[in-house]
Amino acid sequence: MIYDLLFRNVLKRMDPEFAHHAGMLVIRASGSAPIAPIVRSFTKPDPSLAVSTLGLTFPTPFGIAAGFDKNAVGVRGLEALGFGHVEIGTVTAIPQPGNPKPRLFRLVADRGLVNRMGFNNRGAAAAARRIARLRRGGAVVGANIGKSRVVDVDNAIPDYVTSARALAPLADYLAVNVSSPNTPGLRGLQAVETLRPLLEAVRAAAGSTPLLVKIAPDLPDEEVTAIARMAVDIGLDGLIATNTTISREGLKTSAAEVEEMGAGGVSGPPVKVRSLEVLTLVRAEVPDPEFCVISVGGVETAADVRERLDAGATLVQGYTGFIYRGPLWARQINRALA
Ligand SMILES: Cc1cc2nc3c(=O)[nH]c(=O)nc-3n(C[C@H](O)[C@H](O)[C@H](O)COP(=O)(O)O)c2cc1C
Repeated sequence: MIYDLLFRNVLKRMDPEFAHHAGMLVIRASGSAPIAPIVRSFTKPDPSLAVSTLGLTFPTPFGIAAGFDKNAVGVRGLEALGFGHVEIGTVTAIPQPGNPKPRLFRLVADRGLVNRMGFNNRGAAAAARRIARLRRGGAVVGANIGKSRVVDVDNAIPDYVTSARALAPLADYLAVNVSSPNTPGLRGLQAVETLRPLLEAVRAAAGSTPLLVKIAPDLPDEEVTAIARMAVDIGLDGLIATNTTISREGLKTSAAEVEEMGAGGVSGPPVKVRSLEVLTLVRAEVPDPEFCVISVGGVETAADVRERLDAGATLVQGYTGFIYRGPLWARQINRALA
């Protein structure tokens, strides 16, 4: 309610990336030593929500998706706000500034976002140092890795392996991101014949750390099922579906406004239907509950989370809903789920 007013009157007028950084300051403060225990006492998920998967215990099935905390600076705060896991990154082997600004836009009428951030991050070694310093025990920390922009797609494997080696010993799980629309050529790595050697190499580099692959909603159904089958074949522990979409179909925001924003991935409710479809396809292909399927895309309410769990998701993530619902989002979802 209060956040709604704040969003409509203040935040909506701010540059979205500036608002993100301002929000991150509040989140980091929520996770700081004197404040975190107080915040946590209001937000701690009910013990009945705990989920065991990947050999780990998640305090709630609901977590924050990759891209929100690219450099692992807000993990404690996000945990204090009630997220059961934080997927940091996308992290690349070589630090990089990302695309020129502006690169993040609101589709207010759709409660969505368009982004072409381009993996702005401080690099795998820096992320590893941050994770190493975290006092652990609450939220699960996953590390999402992607290809460095300056590295040619043909040399993607050693680049991903560098990030995997840096982060696997520290993260609770690793996610291979081959589905961002904002790194040229990246999504081409989803073709099964290129994806298999990449995932096999990362699998070897990750050792015993659980490994998942994150896929795009824009893949045809046959490719979704082929990737799911291959993931099982080479011993991956799970799959994350989905990233943002390059589609601009069915948006309420005017075509002219959308056009002006330019290239990027759409997130939030516009990706909801396809995200659920992809989850259903993956679960039909791999019914084994030991295979962890993380559903993400257009989840905003506890009913949305419940729908994904009922459709076979092991865990559920969200990002865009946080922008529209505010800091109590995870708490509200956890309360309603319990
Ligand atoms: C601004 C922004 C940045 C993102 N950055 C990443 C990223 O670095 N890596 C990644 O795998 N997904 C990234 N995503 C995609 C989200 O993790 C998620 O898959 C997608 O937004 C769909 O979920 P949502 O509808 O709840 O936002 C990003 C999304 C947004 C909105």
